[in-house]
Amino acid sequence: MSQLGKVYLVGSGPGDPDLLTVKALRLIRSADVVVYDRLVSAEILALIPEKTKRWSVGKAAGRHCVPQDQINPLLYDLAKRYPAIVRLKGGDPFIFGRGSEEAEFLGERRVAFEVVPGITAAAACTAYSGIPLTHRGMSRIIHIATGHFRDDEPLDLDWSALTGPESTLVVYMGLSNIERITDGLMRAGMPGETPAAAIQNGTTPDHYCLTSRVDRLASEVREAGMAAPVLLVFGEVVRLADVMGGWFLPAAPMPARVGEM
Ligand SMILES: C[S@@+](CC[C@H](N)C(=O)[O-])C[C@H]1O[C@@H](n2cnc3c(N)ncnc32)[C@H](O)[C@@H]1O
Repeated sequence: MSQLGKVYLVGSGPGDPDLLTVKALRLIRSADVVVYDRLVSAEILALIPEKTKRWSVGKAAGRHCVPQDQINPLLYDLAKRYPAIVRLKGGDPFIFGRGSEEAEFLGERRVAFEVVPGITAAAACTAYSGIPLTHRGMSRIIHIATGHFRDDEPLDLDWSALTGPESTLVVYMGLSNIERITDGLMRAGMPGETPAAAIQNGTTPDHYCLTSRVDRLASEVREAGMAAPVLLVFGEVVRLADVMGGWFLPAAPMPARVGEM
């Protein structure tokens, strides 16, 4: 164990380098190797010192550059060769980031690791769009779900559990299944006029937030040609983007505003 290096499972937040934690920045600057995902922004990668070894294991939905079952042993091998390995991930490593699988693999092999939480997309992309996840009188429950399943798997989310009043639903990786998601929600009782948003490249210079309603979201997202990474948000709190949105990149176009529908 003492001959093995330590692996730091570090969340880099959703893109804006100013949202890195102090600990994440310190580790990025001092690591021997940085192993990073596709969702880590270019501005954050630019903070890695020249002398540090870099390893891209970037993944896109359906197109895995390096499969997870190769990333786990890669981290183990690197721990045999280097004292400090930073495994850099978008958002938070333990929210749809597979960081827990890496921690489990390393723990089973007695490789020391630390987890450095990052700001997850649900918190940051919404805040940068003027959408609070909770708001007195509007939302006091937050649901976070994944909308991504393998092609041959049904999207078997418990829709009725996600559609209650005074709640906000955030769906990660939901773009390719957006029609199935919005249909599932409405079939479970979510009113079609419920405010909904799709946020693309949240917190980056390409941040774009489309606000709509659940019965129109899918068609408007397709019409706008939105591409991953996209976060979907459903609930009354989306209305607040009308008054609270725009503080980040105020010039960004907002084609549909809930208040105008
Ligand atoms: C594999 S998950 C990783 C989530 C990450 N661990 C987190 O905590 O934010 C990737 C999904 O997160 C969401 N996401 C991450 N960063 C985003 C961003 N900057 N803008 C919009 N959505 C983002 C998208 O739904 C994307 O498909």
